[in-house]
Amino acid sequence: MDETRRQYSFMDEARQYVAGEAARLGRPLTYHVTTFGCQMNARDSEKLSGILEMIGYLPGEEEEADLVLINTCTVRENANQRVYGRLGQLGGQKKRRPGMVIGICGCMMQEADEVERIRKTYRFVDLVFGTHNIFQLAELLVRRFRQREMVVDVWDGAKEIVEDLPAVRKYPFKSGVNIMFGCNNFCSYCIVPYVRGRERSREPGDILREAERLAQDGVVEIMLLGQNVNSYGKTLGTPMSFAALLREMEKVEGIRRIRFMTSHPKDLSQELIQVMASSHKICRHLHLPLQSGSTRILQAMNRRYTKEGYLALVERIREAMPDISLTTDIIVGFPGETEEDFEETLDVVRRVRYDSAFTFLYSKRTGTPAAAMDCQVDPGVAHRRFDRLLREVQDIAAQEARRYEGQTMEVLAEEVNRQQAGMLTGRLSNNFTVHFPADPSLIGKLVQVRLEKCCGFYYVGELA
Ligand code: 5AD
Ligand code: SF4
Repeated sequence: MDETRRQYSFMDEARQYVAGEAARLGRPLTYHVTTFGCQMNARDSEKLSGILEMIGYLPGEEEEADLVLINTCTVRENANQRVYGRLGQLGGQKKRRPGMVIGICGCMMQEADEVERIRKTYRFVDLVFGTHNIFQLAELLVRRFRQREMVVDVWDGAKEIVEDLPAVRKYPFKSGVNIMFGCNNFCSYCIVPYVRGRERSREPGDILREAERLAQDGVVEIMLLGQNVNSYGKTLGTPMSFAALLREMEKVEGIRRIRFMTSHPKDLSQELIQVMASSHKICRHLHLPLQSGSTRILQAMNRRYTKEGYLALVERIREAMPDISLTTDIIVGFPGETEEDFEETLDVVRRVRYDSAFTFLYSKRTGTPAAAMDCQVDPGVAHRRFDRLLREVQDIAAQEARRYEGQTMEVLAEEVNRQQAGMLTGRLSNNFTVHFPADPSLIGKLVQVRLEKCCGFYYVGELA
């Protein structure tokens, strides 16, 4: 609580500075946060925005904002390249408007080489911080306002979890809620454990209190966030399982839908399957990253399950919930992957029949064990496998999507459809998208929609 109070006092101090600038310019100051990467980063950006709004910045367009913050991802190489492209453009903008504040934070900044590159090559940057101290944004800004040179503050590891700081929400009716931070799994290709640190769970009381507040504020759908939600609670003073947390979450009045992300297959318990199956609030969707269908490659990836183990788990899940939608992540071209290994991946895809899959070309991340492995796969071979996998995944997903055609299902109306006037876009419990003609006043409401036609990955429907 002390740290929370400390940060609010920095917000006060920064607010005075921002108000002074606004008075001098005769207009309010604006901010823009650009987010790369996963749901975890998206939630972090909502917290960063919350602090900035508390300080007196108004949301604005990136091209003209007085403060621009880039929240980076480093899980694959191309994410880094995009960040530097964006920074280059911002440098040009700052030449024309020297008063601009440019900040960069997130996973990429946890890597010493990247911070060095910013210091040397992108000297116009004002603020550099990492994943462990986003709660310090106001404090860092105050330092920047005082010292007028680049402020770099990146922590090697996390300290306490700072509760009760402000956050804005992209949608008024749904919100992400962090239940844990970091990851202890050390999959051999993955940089996340190095940049997000060791696994830490929030106290269940803090999580439930946040959910209750959100519900009072009109939120009906909550997405519980963690790198591996299935190992929630193991590090708490009084350990608690993820399934037990879900049971508590179910009791929060006003919350109608509960989602979560991401599940590691090795930790998915029978208790969780039972809690999901008997729940009316937990959505009928499970994102269950496969990564590879070859037991040999899974072992080299340090995933700690086999092809057969994964398939047996899917069978148990489907037995308990025949209507569940399964989605996954798959990496193609992991070091040493042979044609036979790749065929095993295709085999799992054909047997499980995912409703969608994120497919990735293996990307070598310096510092991870896989980067040092021999027999990196030829990029041409990897690309051809990637294309074959994508075609398979898309064909199956398109066939599977049709299974709900003609049915009437509950939809959370989420936004006005940007392509077609008079249409809203919403989501089914199983995460499928539906477009249907309706009045924007229904946004944020759960409505019954008849799914008239399946168009590949989405439905077009009518209010029932
Ligand atoms: N190369 C390619 N994909 C990766 N992922 C994580 N690390 C890498 C990497 N080095 C993928 C995994 C993970 C998803 C978020 O990103 O599939 O589940
Ligand atoms: Fe990375 Fe594996 Fe942790 Fe997921 S579970 S964040 S893939 S190390």
